[in-house]
Amino acid sequence: MPKPYVPNDKWSQRAAEEGYRARSVYKLQELDEKYHLLRFGMKVLDIGAAPGSWLQYTSKRIGPAGLALGLDLKEIKGIAPNVKRAVCDITDETAVEKAMAAVGMAEADIVLSDIAPNTSGIRDVDQWRSIELSRKVVLFAKRHLRPGGKLVMKVFRGKNFDEFLKEVRQDWPNAKPYTVAASRDRSMEVYIVCK
Ligand SMILES: C[S@@+](CC[C@H](N)C(=O)[O-])C[C@H]1O[C@@H](n2cnc3c(N)ncnc32)[C@H](O)[C@@H]1O
Repeated sequence: MPKPYVPNDKWSQRAAEEGYRARSVYKLQELDEKYHLLRFGMKVLDIGAAPGSWLQYTSKRIGPAGLALGLDLKEIKGIAPNVKRAVCDITDETAVEKAMAAVGMAEADIVLSDIAPNTSGIRDVDQWRSIELSRKVVLFAKRHLRPGGKLVMKVFRGKNFDEFLKEVRQDWPNAKPYTVAASRDRSMEVYIVCK
Protein backbone atom coordinates (compact mmCIF):
# COMPACT_ATOMS: atom_id res chain seq x y z
CA MET A 1 0.00 0.00 0.00
CA PRO A 2 1.33 3.50 -0.81
CA LYS A 3 2.28 5.47 2.32
CA PRO A 4 -0.01 8.47 3.07
CA TYR A 5 1.51 11.88 2.27
CA VAL A 6 2.99 13.49 5.37
CA PRO A 7 3.88 17.17 4.97
CA ASN A 8 7.50 17.71 5.96
CA ASP A 9 7.88 21.46 6.18
CA LYS A 10 6.20 24.06 8.36
CA TRP A 11 4.20 25.65 5.51
CA SER A 12 2.80 22.33 4.32
CA GLN A 13 1.94 21.33 7.89
CA ARG A 14 0.19 24.63 8.47
CA ALA A 15 -1.74 24.27 5.18
CA ALA A 16 -2.87 20.77 6.17
CA GLU A 17 -3.96 22.01 9.62
CA GLU A 18 -5.86 24.98 8.16
CA GLY A 19 -7.59 22.95 5.45
CA TYR A 20 -5.75 24.37 2.45
CA ARG A 21 -4.84 22.13 -0.46
CA ALA A 22 -1.29 23.42 -0.85
CA ARG A 23 1.41 25.39 0.94
CA SER A 24 1.29 27.91 -1.94
CA VAL A 25 -1.67 29.60 -0.25
CA TYR A 26 0.73 31.45 2.07
CA LYS A 27 2.53 32.91 -0.94
CA LEU A 28 -0.69 34.48 -2.23
CA GLN A 29 -1.63 35.60 1.26
CA GLU A 30 1.70 37.39 1.68
CA LEU A 31 1.43 39.01 -1.76
CA ASP A 32 -2.14 40.09 -1.04
CA GLU A 33 -1.23 41.57 2.34
CA LYS A 34 1.70 43.47 0.86
CA TYR A 35 0.16 44.68 -2.41
CA HIS A 36 -3.60 44.76 -1.57
CA LEU A 37 -4.49 42.63 -4.57
CA LEU A 38 -7.90 41.14 -3.81
CA ARG A 39 -11.13 42.90 -2.88
CA PHE A 40 -14.77 42.08 -2.35
CA GLY A 41 -16.67 41.62 -5.63
CA MET A 42 -13.64 41.14 -7.89
CA LYS A 43 -13.50 38.97 -11.00
CA VAL A 44 -10.38 36.82 -10.79
CA LEU A 45 -8.68 34.53 -13.31
CA ASP A 46 -6.36 32.07 -11.59
CA ILE A 47 -4.19 30.25 -14.11
CA GLY A 48 -2.23 27.15 -13.23
CA ALA A 49 -4.71 26.85 -10.36
CA ALA A 50 -4.64 23.16 -9.33
CA PRO A 51 -4.98 21.78 -6.70
CA GLY A 52 -6.73 25.01 -5.69
CA SER A 53 -5.31 26.63 -2.54
CA TRP A 54 -5.16 30.07 -4.20
CA LEU A 55 -8.80 29.63 -5.21
CA GLN A 56 -9.73 28.69 -1.63
CA TYR A 57 -8.11 31.90 -0.36
CA THR A 58 -9.50 34.04 -3.21
CA SER A 59 -13.02 32.75 -2.64
CA LYS A 60 -13.00 34.18 0.89
CA ARG A 61 -11.44 37.50 -0.14
CA ILE A 62 -13.85 38.26 -3.03
CA GLY A 63 -16.97 37.08 -1.19
CA PRO A 64 -20.28 36.04 -2.74
CA ALA A 65 -20.39 39.11 -5.04
CA GLY A 66 -17.11 38.08 -6.67
CA LEU A 67 -16.28 35.41 -9.19
CA ALA A 68 -13.09 33.40 -9.63
CA LEU A 69 -12.30 31.09 -12.52
CA GLY A 70 -9.49 28.58 -12.07
CA LEU A 71 -7.86 27.09 -15.16
CA ASP A 72 -5.43 24.20 -15.16
CA LEU A 73 -4.35 21.20 -17.23
CA LYS A 74 -5.43 19.15 -14.20
CA GLU A 75 -8.88 18.87 -12.73
CA ILE A 76 -9.61 21.06 -9.69
CA LYS A 77 -12.11 19.79 -7.13
CA GLY A 78 -15.09 21.99 -6.19
CA ILE A 79 -14.49 24.83 -3.70
CA ALA A 80 -17.40 27.27 -3.31
CA PRO A 81 -20.25 28.77 -5.39
CA ASN A 82 -18.14 31.84 -6.29
CA VAL A 83 -15.35 29.65 -7.74
CA LYS A 84 -15.69 28.06 -11.17
CA ARG A 85 -13.15 25.69 -12.66
CA ALA A 86 -12.16 24.39 -16.08
CA VAL A 87 -9.60 21.94 -17.37
CA CYS A 88 -7.73 23.73 -20.12
CA ASP A 89 -4.34 24.64 -21.49
CA ILE A 90 -3.93 28.38 -21.06
CA THR A 91 -2.05 28.57 -24.35
CA ASP A 92 -5.18 27.35 -26.17
CA GLU A 93 -7.05 30.60 -26.74
CA THR A 94 -10.26 28.96 -27.95
CA ALA A 95 -10.47 26.77 -24.86
CA VAL A 96 -9.83 29.75 -22.57
CA GLU A 97 -12.50 31.87 -24.27
CA LYS A 98 -14.97 29.00 -24.04
CA ALA A 99 -14.27 28.56 -20.31
CA MET A 100 -14.71 32.30 -19.66
CA ALA A 101 -17.91 32.51 -21.70
CA ALA A 102 -19.33 29.49 -19.85
CA VAL A 103 -19.13 31.40 -16.55
CA GLY A 104 -20.09 34.81 -17.97
CA MET A 105 -16.71 36.42 -17.37
CA ALA A 106 -15.88 38.89 -20.16
CA GLU A 107 -12.79 40.42 -18.50
CA ALA A 108 -10.95 39.94 -15.23
CA ASP A 109 -9.96 42.53 -12.63
CA ILE A 110 -6.87 40.50 -11.82
CA VAL A 111 -4.97 37.58 -13.35
CA LEU A 112 -3.13 35.41 -10.84
CA SER A 113 -0.59 32.95 -12.19
CA ASP A 114 1.22 30.38 -10.09
CA ILE A 115 1.77 28.34 -13.23
CA ALA A 116 4.86 26.14 -13.34
CA PRO A 117 6.31 24.10 -16.20
CA ASN A 118 7.21 20.43 -15.77
CA THR A 119 10.64 20.59 -14.18
CA SER A 120 13.62 18.57 -15.38
CA GLY A 121 15.90 19.24 -12.42
CA ILE A 122 18.33 21.03 -14.75
CA ARG A 123 18.29 24.60 -13.49
CA ASP A 124 18.87 26.43 -16.80
CA VAL A 125 16.38 24.28 -18.70
CA ASP A 126 13.69 24.76 -16.04
CA GLN A 127 14.30 28.48 -15.92
CA TRP A 128 14.05 28.76 -19.72
CA ARG A 129 10.78 26.77 -19.67
CA SER A 130 9.42 29.02 -16.95
CA ILE A 131 10.24 32.18 -18.92
CA GLU A 132 8.63 30.76 -22.07
CA LEU A 133 5.49 29.90 -20.12
CA SER A 134 5.52 33.33 -18.47
CA ARG A 135 5.59 35.00 -21.90
CA LYS A 136 2.36 33.13 -22.60
CA VAL A 137 0.98 34.34 -19.26
CA VAL A 138 1.70 37.95 -20.27
CA LEU A 139 -0.15 37.45 -23.58
CA PHE A 140 -3.00 35.83 -21.68
CA ALA A 141 -3.23 38.78 -19.28
CA LYS A 142 -3.13 41.33 -22.10
CA ARG A 143 -6.11 39.60 -23.72
CA HIS A 144 -8.23 38.97 -20.66
CA LEU A 145 -7.61 41.78 -18.16
CA ARG A 146 -9.81 44.85 -18.03
CA PRO A 147 -7.94 48.12 -18.67
CA GLY A 148 -6.06 48.96 -15.48
CA GLY A 149 -6.33 45.36 -14.22
CA LYS A 150 -3.56 43.66 -12.25
CA LEU A 151 -1.32 40.71 -13.01
CA VAL A 152 0.68 38.64 -10.52
CA MET A 153 2.79 35.83 -11.93
CA LYS A 154 5.39 33.37 -10.75
CA VAL A 155 8.64 33.14 -12.70
CA PHE A 156 11.87 31.26 -12.06
CA ARG A 157 14.88 33.51 -11.56
CA GLY A 158 17.92 32.87 -13.75
CA LYS A 159 19.90 34.26 -16.60
CA ASN A 160 16.90 35.32 -18.76
CA PHE A 161 15.03 36.90 -15.89
CA ASP A 162 16.21 40.52 -16.28
CA GLU A 163 15.43 40.49 -19.99
CA PHE A 164 11.96 39.11 -19.26
CA LEU A 165 11.30 41.74 -16.59
CA LYS A 166 12.23 44.43 -19.14
CA GLU A 167 9.68 42.97 -21.56
CA VAL A 168 6.98 42.99 -18.87
CA ARG A 169 7.77 46.62 -18.01
CA GLN A 170 6.92 47.65 -21.56
CA ASP A 171 3.28 47.05 -20.62
CA TRP A 172 3.48 47.52 -16.83
CA PRO A 173 6.25 50.08 -16.16
CA ASN A 174 5.94 49.58 -12.38
CA ALA A 175 6.22 45.77 -12.43
CA LYS A 176 8.05 44.63 -9.29
CA PRO A 177 9.74 41.31 -8.50
CA TYR A 178 9.06 40.03 -4.99
CA THR A 179 10.23 36.89 -3.21
CA VAL A 180 7.79 35.49 -0.64
CA ALA A 181 8.80 33.94 2.67
CA ALA A 182 7.02 30.69 1.88
CA SER A 183 9.18 30.01 -1.17
CA ARG A 184 11.56 27.23 -0.22
CA ASP A 185 14.96 28.44 0.95
CA ARG A 186 16.76 27.59 -2.25
CA SER A 187 13.83 28.10 -4.60
CA MET A 188 14.35 29.99 -7.84
CA GLU A 189 10.82 31.32 -7.78
CA VAL A 190 9.92 34.96 -7.67
CA TYR A 191 6.60 36.72 -8.21
CA ILE A 192 6.22 39.70 -10.53
CA VAL A 193 3.51 42.07 -9.39
CA CYS A 194 2.09 44.29 -12.15
CA LYS A 195 -0.36 47.00 -11.15
C1 LIG B 1 2.41 25.18 -8.49
S1 LIG B 1 0.98 24.56 -9.26
C2 LIG B 1 -0.24 25.75 -8.78
C3 LIG B 1 -0.65 25.69 -7.33
C4 LIG B 1 -1.89 26.53 -7.06
N1 LIG B 1 -1.58 27.95 -7.07
C5 LIG B 1 -2.51 26.23 -5.70
O1 LIG B 1 -2.44 27.08 -4.83
O2 LIG B 1 -3.07 25.15 -5.52
C6 LIG B 1 1.26 24.92 -10.96
C7 LIG B 1 0.17 24.45 -11.92
O3 LIG B 1 0.42 24.94 -13.24
C8 LIG B 1 -0.26 24.07 -14.13
N2 LIG B 1 0.10 24.29 -15.54
C9 LIG B 1 1.32 24.14 -16.12
N3 LIG B 1 1.24 24.43 -17.44
C10 LIG B 1 -0.05 24.78 -17.70
C11 LIG B 1 -0.77 25.18 -18.89
N4 LIG B 1 -0.15 25.30 -20.07
N5 LIG B 1 -2.09 25.46 -18.79
C12 LIG B 1 -2.73 25.35 -17.59
N6 LIG B 1 -2.11 24.99 -16.44
C13 LIG B 1 -0.79 24.69 -16.49
C14 LIG B 1 0.13 22.69 -13.60
O4 LIG B 1 -0.77 21.70 -14.04
C15 LIG B 1 0.08 22.91 -12.07
O5 LIG B 1 -1.12 22.44 -11.51
